[in-house]
Amino acid sequence: MKNKIVLTGGCGFIGSHTCVELQEAGFDVVIFDNLSNSEITVLDGIEKITGIRPAFYQIDCTDKGAVYQAFQKEGPIAGVVHFAASKAVGESVQKPLLYYRNNLASLMNMLEAAQDFHLKGFVFSSSCTVYGEPDKSPVDESAPIKPATSPYGNTKQIAEEIIKDYVHTGIDFNAIILRYFNPIGAHPTAEIGELPRGVPQNLLPYVCQAAMGIRKELSVFGNDYNTPDGSCIRDYIDVTDLAKAHVCALSRMVDGKSKDQIEYYNLGTGKGVSVLELVNTFMEATGVKVPYSIKGRREGDIEKIWGNPSHANEVLGWKAQVPLKETLANAWRWQMRLREKGVM
Ligand code: UFG
Repeated sequence: MKNKIVLTGGCGFIGSHTCVELQEAGFDVVIFDNLSNSEITVLDGIEKITGIRPAFYQIDCTDKGAVYQAFQKEGPIAGVVHFAASKAVGESVQKPLLYYRNNLASLMNMLEAAQDFHLKGFVFSSSCTVYGEPDKSPVDESAPIKPATSPYGNTKQIAEEIIKDYVHTGIDFNAIILRYFNPIGAHPTAEIGELPRGVPQNLLPYVCQAAMGIRKELSVFGNDYNTPDGSCIRDYIDVTDLAKAHVCALSRMVDGKSKDQIEYYNLGTGKGVSVLELVNTFMEATGVKVPYSIKGRREGDIEKIWGNPSHANEVLGWKAQVPLKETLANAWRWQMRLREKGVM
């Protein structure tokens, strides 16, 4: 029998790509999503790629009754990947209570359900944001956790603490915390990708929209940082590569191979890329010009951070593989698909 996995936020950017990879690896996927920042049509894209439509519940994970009802209906579940969360850094500063409620109440409901329904494993979507501005890069998992610079970042730190405390009570499931660096790209089939609502806040969706002419020009936030070209440096990880890491993490837990009851993994490429490098590589990969101009720094930005993924490479047997150019070409193909469909 296939292992059944619940993906909360499974219609989102990382969730939908993870759904595809899990289905292709033989897992049976059930999605919980309140569609607050995603579209139901994502299920069509997933089905086109894998031939399987995942079971879907339009529920909000802050609603414990709805979560428990869905668990009861689905029968034995092997594990959860908890993606569902609000994720806009700027919005979190304006609406901190919304962020604390959405991100923490949903986590607690899912943890309680994981115990009450006897799951083997719980995977949590965390972020390199927990490291703040690191003292040095690449950052490994033992780097200090720095004070969060936004309520959003704080929810990720608090969530990690909640999971740690809960696991230490002696409950009988394993947790894996995945700290993502900067996920970008789209599925190579262009059937699923990122769907930003309104003006994109993240770099690559903005680059794609500027290249498409939807936005006049990209603002590069700062060229006076202490980096080789003055723009900020990040570790951009292909979303399909990232999705595959979840298959490795779940397989490890479901097969009873976890060594520690709670494990932490950085998911990145190990390579830092500046904003200007990313823009230039996009133009090389697609042959399309990106209009941009240099603007002032964005408040709260980290100057440079990239990850050391050795732990995930060695223990999970996972490695980022897709070259940056290919990732950028996939994102552009997805942007063109959105245009064809009249979405944007
Ligand atoms: N940038 C621009 N112009 C834009 C958008 C972004 O120059 O229009 C720059 C930013 O200043 C930054 C880099 O591109 O230097 C990357 O910015 P993103 O907003 O794409 O990503 P961040 O690294 O700021 O944040 C991302 C996620 C957060 C998460 C954080 C760390 O959006 O949710 O990584 O994990 F918390």
